Amino acid sequence: MIKVITYGTFDLFHEGHYRLLQRAKALGDYLIVGVTTEAYDKTRGKLNVVDSLVTRIENVKKTGFADEVIIEEEPGQKFNDIKKFQIDIFTVGSDWVGSFDYLKDFCKVIYLERTKNISSTMLRERNSSIQRIGIIGTGRIAERFIPEARLVSGVSTQGVYNPHTESAKRFADKWEINAYTDPEEFYNAVDVVYVASPHETHYEYIKSALEHDKHVLCEKPMVLKKAQAEELFDYAKERNRVLFEGVKTAYCPGFHKLLGIASSGIVGNIRNVEACFTKLENPESRELTDLMYGGSFLELGSYVMLPILKLFGQDFEKVRFDTIKGENGLDIFTKASFCFPTGIATATCGLGVKSEGRLLIAGTKGYIVAEAPWWKTTYFEVHYENPGEVEKYSERFLGDGLRYEISDFLSRITGNSSSEFKLTRGETVALARIMEVFMEAAGRGK
Ligand code: CTP
Repeated sequence: MIKVITYGTFDLFHEGHYRLLQRAKALGDYLIVGVTTEAYDKTRGKLNVVDSLVTRIENVKKTGFADEVIIEEEPGQKFNDIKKFQIDIFTVGSDWVGSFDYLKDFCKVIYLERTKNISSTMLRERNSSIQRIGIIGTGRIAERFIPEARLVSGVSTQGVYNPHTESAKRFADKWEINAYTDPEEFYNAVDVVYVASPHETHYEYIKSALEHDKHVLCEKPMVLKKAQAEELFDYAKERNRVLFEGVKTAYCPGFHKLLGIASSGIVGNIRNVEACFTKLENPESRELTDLMYGGSFLELGSYVMLPILKLFGQDFEKVRFDTIKGENGLDIFTKASFCFPTGIATATCGLGVKSEGRLLIAGTKGYIVAEAPWWKTTYFEVHYENPGEVEKYSERFLGDGLRYEISDFLSRITGNSSSEFKLTRGETVALARIMEVFMEAAGRGK
């Protein structure tokens, strides 16, 4: 009996998939089809798979060509499957020519001609019609956003808005997109807006984008007042638009794994969370010279408060801020200490003091530790009373990581999946509320 194996995502099952399976089956007597999990696809950069694993398996089964369906969960699995199932022939489409030659030592490798003019990517784009993104702001974060957005199927960066013609043009030329200085023209040309302008301008820009019926992804901190956050979410709801705060960590797969493990009770009841993130900034930078909207807490506070709110909820009993100030009076290092009904937490951040950036979650049975850069979590450990007992977890984090946030934002818009739990309205409102308390304590409340 000749055993054949092939693998794929088989999203939005199409003729190319059907023809591939038909020919794969004809190569032998018994066909095994490996269908990828969502988690595996995410780690290899396929971020917008529409159909669930169950649907994709059913579609493969319906063809009647597969004698057995298995799931593909991780890199390196193919090699082991070939041995385990005693495979004679490995086959995939010609888009993979050469990629699997390393399997030739173990079985025959056949690349089948790919069916022309059809792919899941094409269907996904046709399905959701491409969302044209317009960026407001031309700073560093906007620069990082564009290459990441290019990796997410279903979106295209249309242009950038900046009221200053020179800045808009310079940015647009660099990234080969359009420059807009007129807001109406800008809103007419885009479907969704990414707000990456200075903090103090977020509120007005979000409001005007919603007024123009655009979905909005806004850089953190979205706003610096609780009432403003609530008002904007209400307004987005009224206009049936998605409003989304871009705290990158909230959408990072490794951070999600960590939260899942922490919430599973593996370290008992969580009693203490310490999160620290420091990044030495140039003293001349906007972050260290803007006396009203600069400083370490406004810049990095969202990251360090995120795990705390995720694990203890939004109802803290007390918060207290201790800061070290630079010569101009701006905080160069801030420690926010929280008391919750079930535990305590500290959120530490710095732009002018360097510390060990780590996330520590202490429970009644053990603790979880993730070292810097835990805000782009790729690795963490679970420790217990016995120092020899350590569990290690890892997860991939691709590029700058904004692709995860963009992909979740897009899923929310197209209604393909609900990822609201990753950063809820309540959490964004709580972040704004804490920023407000901080600003008032620093004498910067207006
Ligand atoms: N395939 C094919 N002809 C096509 C599309 C896919 O022969 N027009 C083959 C692929 O080469 C692979 C299998 O079908 O062996 C599963 O491919 P998959 O990656 O799931 O489908 P794509 O349409 O290529 O998906 P995407 O656009 O997301 O890459």
